[in-house]
Amino acid sequence: MSVVILGIESSCDDTSAAVIKDCVLMSNVIASQKVHEAYGGVVPELASRAHQQNIVPVVSEAIRQSGLKKEDINAIAFTRGPGLLGSLLVGTSFAKGLALSLDIPLVDVNHLHGHVLSHFIKEDENTEVPEFPYLCLLVSGGNSQIIKVNSPSNMEVLGQTIDDAAGEAFDKCAKVMGLPYPGGPFIDRMAQEGDAKRFKFNKPRVEGLNYSFSGLKTSFLYTLRNEKAKNENFIEENKADLAASLQKTIIDILMDKFGKAIKMTGIKTIAIGGGVSANSGVRNAVQRYADEHGIRAFIPKRSFTTDNAAMIAVAGYFKYLDKEFCDISLPPFARITV
Ligand code: KG4
Repeated sequence: MSVVILGIESSCDDTSAAVIKDCVLMSNVIASQKVHEAYGGVVPELASRAHQQNIVPVVSEAIRQSGLKKEDINAIAFTRGPGLLGSLLVGTSFAKGLALSLDIPLVDVNHLHGHVLSHFIKEDENTEVPEFPYLCLLVSGGNSQIIKVNSPSNMEVLGQTIDDAAGEAFDKCAKVMGLPYPGGPFIDRMAQEGDAKRFKFNKPRVEGLNYSFSGLKTSFLYTLRNEKAKNENFIEENKADLAASLQKTIIDILMDKFGKAIKMTGIKTIAIGGGVSANSGVRNAVQRYADEHGIRAFIPKRSFTTDNAAMIAVAGYFKYLDKEFCDISLPPFARITV
């Protein structure tokens, strides 16, 4: 018998609901919040208020677009954390209320597991999915981790950042260049026109498979400060080369450790996930690595790299199969790792 899961995601500034039937996507609705643009970052209180306004129409629309009825849903999967507590509370409370009223089980999902398992979202029956174990490079605004995914419920973190995440490196350097928040997508676009070999920035020396991006950020800041002292139009005149050189440095740092992890484990299937996996340079580098080494790479569709409820529904589907349901008394959590 088919299993229908309604997924709900509200960890940051996107309110999303999705319906899947045995991992096949029936609908995925996302309401992004524009209210934060004026503030240069997400304002938690405004985010939770916007979630409150969006949650009912977003969930209704996801069910409507799926062509199914509320009564067809077998369980509700929701993001329990990590994220902004006020935002998480909205999705969590709504999921609990709806599950109670429909008398169906609740499944709590770790948002990071959602990103890692996003490769199991099937657009149709023929979508290919990774085999276990696979190595996932999870790169987002809050995380940079190399994860060995043994099964949907068994993941090992082999390496992670000891300071900033890759997304923070993109965003903080973009801010120094005077770009809006989040700067990652702007750097990506500008980098396409630039010379990536023009500028050199510091690369970290960190043990094992761990990452560090704080040194790069400082090196970028000092380069700009020194050059601006000589020429006040330096950033404007060199923005494409700066973006391309910065992006290349971040990708080199990511690929150096990811490549080491692939060699160490001998795993032949790799994947990427999280907001930074939307970056064209990161996507190309991972695909190129796989082609050169004769291994398989799973690169998510761009719409599944940012926060979305489809990945939460899929992660919830696996827990549903294992009958790992969540008690209605469980609160959301702001911080947790994989
Ligand atoms: O943390 P995340 O997975 O969650 C949200 O959707 O909020 O993704 C956000 C991060 C930000 O740091 C943003 O700059 C980065 O992903 N990002 C990118 C690109 N698209 C998003 N970074 C580089 N290039 C992109 N194209």
